[in-house]
Amino acid sequence: MSDPPFLWPVEHIHSGDDAQNGVLCAGNMMLTAHSLGIGSCWIGFASSLGEDPGVLKDLGVPEGHRLIAPLIFGYPKKVDGTATPRNDPVILKWVKDQ
Ligand SMILES: Cc1cc2nc3c(=O)[nH]c(=O)nc-3n(C[C@H](O)[C@H](O)[C@H](O)COP(=O)(O)O)c2cc1C
Repeated sequence: MSDPPFLWPVEHIHSGDDAQNGVLCAGNMMLTAHSLGIGSCWIGFASSLGEDPGVLKDLGVPEGHRLIAPLIFGYPKKVDGTATPRNDPVILKWVKDQ
């Protein structure tokens, strides 16, 4: 990707420290991007920027909200088309109806 835009879902802080809404939003953004031929990556190492009050102010993040998932998007230079090899799933337990 070249010069990828940086998008960062923002979540209103409810109670506790959960981030489900923002993470769900991020996942949907990544899936939607993929369906449009756009690549994305979660840049976890940028998360600390979301702790910086100056960055929050510059980005216009409202009071009582926080940044959740730093995402970059862009058009891949090449698309391989093959799936990344996966380990076999670890199935903890099957639950059956009685
Ligand atoms: C919380 C989180 C943080 C990540 N941080 C980075 C990162 O800083 N740099 C990076 O290149 N990829 C980052 N990724 C992407 C992962 O390296 C990986 O590409 C992605 O989880 C898909 O992995 P998979 O293809 O094995 O399923 C992050 C992913 C997650 C879920």
